[in-house]
Amino acid sequence: MKIRKAIIPIAGKGTRFLPATKEIAKEIIPIINVPMIHYIVQEAVEAGVEQIIFVTSSGKFAVEDYFDRNQELEAFLERNKKTKELELIRKIGSMVDVTSVRQKEQLGLGHAVLMAKSMIGDEPFAVLLGDDIVVNKVPAIKQLMDISIANKGASVIGVMEVPKNETQKYGIVKGDIVNEKTLRMTGMVEKPKPEDAPTNLATPGRYILTPDIFKILETIPRGAGNEYQLTDAINVLCQEKDVFAYKFTGERYDTGNIHGYLDATIDFALKDPDIRDTFLENLKMRLLKNGIKL
Ligand code: G1P
Repeated sequence: MKIRKAIIPIAGKGTRFLPATKEIAKEIIPIINVPMIHYIVQEAVEAGVEQIIFVTSSGKFAVEDYFDRNQELEAFLERNKKTKELELIRKIGSMVDVTSVRQKEQLGLGHAVLMAKSMIGDEPFAVLLGDDIVVNKVPAIKQLMDISIANKGASVIGVMEVPKNETQKYGIVKGDIVNEKTLRMTGMVEKPKPEDAPTNLATPGRYILTPDIFKILETIPRGAGNEYQLTDAINVLCQEKDVFAYKFTGERYDTGNIHGYLDATIDFALKDPDIRDTFLENLKMRLLKNGIKL
């Protein structure tokens, strides 16, 4: 069994990044000089995914263009002997096969995933949400694939522990303990209040799903926020079949909010050998300049 396809829903308006997202797709906003969506696609590609299906809305053409070739820019770089840059640009343009489908109305994540049904067909697939960047040597989605393979191709949902007072931001899973990192799921609930949350195991946007999720998505009613929730469909799926929750390893950044975005920017700068030393020097100087003593 191989997971060949990944759905990446990108139809959201990115309101937390206004005014930048007034005219550009949120996914193109970079962490240093690399668009956020690049990290998500790279994770899927490193895990062996061959085709990315973006679920888009209007104004997202730049994301599709980013993963396409840009002949004009390539010719310009070639003429100007910018070999390193040319290589980088070519590599991105041939990174992976990309297709897209429109989500014409913003009716929730479940609805977004359902839009890609005809492009998936009858095979298991991955879903990666663009607001969460996970850094790890073995990509988070690959870790879930491995658990799926070890469990006869079952659906696997990536989870992480969150403080109890944050359950309202996530889909929360419950289940029976299989081992330290794995649960056999018995249910899932979208954004419960802390007092209603069955556990503190949250789903930060990494899923391996079997195609039988689609027929469930076609029948579920609207849920939290009056939207069609992927969470509600997974909740039904785990009553019918084995679905596992897996505590993946990796540093996760919620780049959908300003602080998570800043955390990622700082960490990535500190981990980049070309940037690190100067950045640290400048940072120390700027702290002093702004009267901040640590
Ligand atoms: C979505 C999902 C939620 C998940 C979260 C992860 O919510 O509905 O289950 O935990 O993404 O980021 P959103 O953040 O889009 O409201």
